[in-house]
Amino acid sequence: MKVGRGAEAPPFLVMDVITAANARAATGAHVLRMEVGQPATGAPTGAVHAAVRALQARAPMGYTEALGIPSLRARIARHYAEHYGLAVDAGRIAVTVGASGAFPLAFLAAFDVGDRIAMAAPFYPPYANILTGLGMQPVLLECGPQTRFQPSIAMLEALDPRPAGLVVASPCNPAGTMLSPAELQAISNWCDRNGVRLISDEIYHGLTWGTVPESSAAAFSDSAIVVNSFSKYWSMTGWRVGWMVLPRDLVRPVECLAQNMFISPPHIAQLTAEAAMDCSMELEANKARYAESRAALLAGLPAAGFTRIAEADGAFYLWCDVSALTNDSTEFAARMLAEADIAATPGADFDRMRGARFMRFSYCGAVEDMCAAPERLRRWLG
Ligand SMILES: Cc1ncc(COP(=O)(O)O)c(C=O)c1O
Repeated sequence: MKVGRGAEAPPFLVMDVITAANARAATGAHVLRMEVGQPATGAPTGAVHAAVRALQARAPMGYTEALGIPSLRARIARHYAEHYGLAVDAGRIAVTVGASGAFPLAFLAAFDVGDRIAMAAPFYPPYANILTGLGMQPVLLECGPQTRFQPSIAMLEALDPRPAGLVVASPCNPAGTMLSPAELQAISNWCDRNGVRLISDEIYHGLTWGTVPESSAAAFSDSAIVVNSFSKYWSMTGWRVGWMVLPRDLVRPVECLAQNMFISPPHIAQLTAEAAMDCSMELEANKARYAESRAALLAGLPAAGFTRIAEADGAFYLWCDVSALTNDSTEFAARMLAEADIAATPGADFDRMRGARFMRFSYCGAVEDMCAAPERLRRWLG
């Protein structure tokens, strides 16, 4: 019997590391969880209360409009005014089932089977895996510390033929590095001049460490698709709510695709997300904890032997070149879990060519665990 191309999608390896770490923890080991990009905190308290109130009022949790409930779309538009000083029409906001739900909608609305879509490597694996599943072709731009793991105009100019699209992420996963506003503007302008559809993944906005100002591609191009989510800054991974800011020409196509593919994002989660946008105090306290963990790791990891760390401007990851310690980061990660009880993600997930020399440490878990990690690693490698 025929098995479709979708069945060839490679695993998202971090999910396999989670399974192995769960098994190790089930033996009673105190595993320091540094593999997954999931805040240890839940949805902010005010948002949980809003959810409880809605459920107690027996509000019917039905399908919503495919592009999301109007009040949430309006609240997200207000966020663009308040956070970026940008006037974004709520009619251009599409609420999605996480950022993950946004990608197939964006790719299908903007591209055709066979189209080439460029992105930096290392990259968030589902970009390429979803594109491949949809019959599109990821084009990987090998990036390193010279360009802060981000694509440059020179790399884009070298692409012949021009791709149909470009995916950027700032801060990016796994390196945590950012494009400056001037760089993002230059890339947006290049895309507009060359008829290349820009998709800007801004899911780590709100979690930046002051080295580079946050800017949205919505400021620079009316043709760019901006993707964001409640999963990271808003600490709502399991609620599955994200959004896009769409170019006008793609609003109706995305609405039709969303009606067919998802009908709507979950109703209760949309109400909760709207309330979360007014919970800044709690969310800023979460952010302060990430900053504490980041500082402890940056101070302690070099003494443990992790000396080559990408200069991360945001997100909650550290991307380490571990070539001095191993040439097989998957085996290294398995040993680290078995012998040091630390779960981290091997680079192969994010970079097919060079990933065997890299590891990604996520530090959105408990601060005490993050602070304990360097000393545990130092003893292990000692
Ligand atoms: C860069 C990036 N984009 C998108 C996602 C997907 O997020 P979600 O579907 O939870 O919104 C993630 C999750 O880790 C991510 O790191």
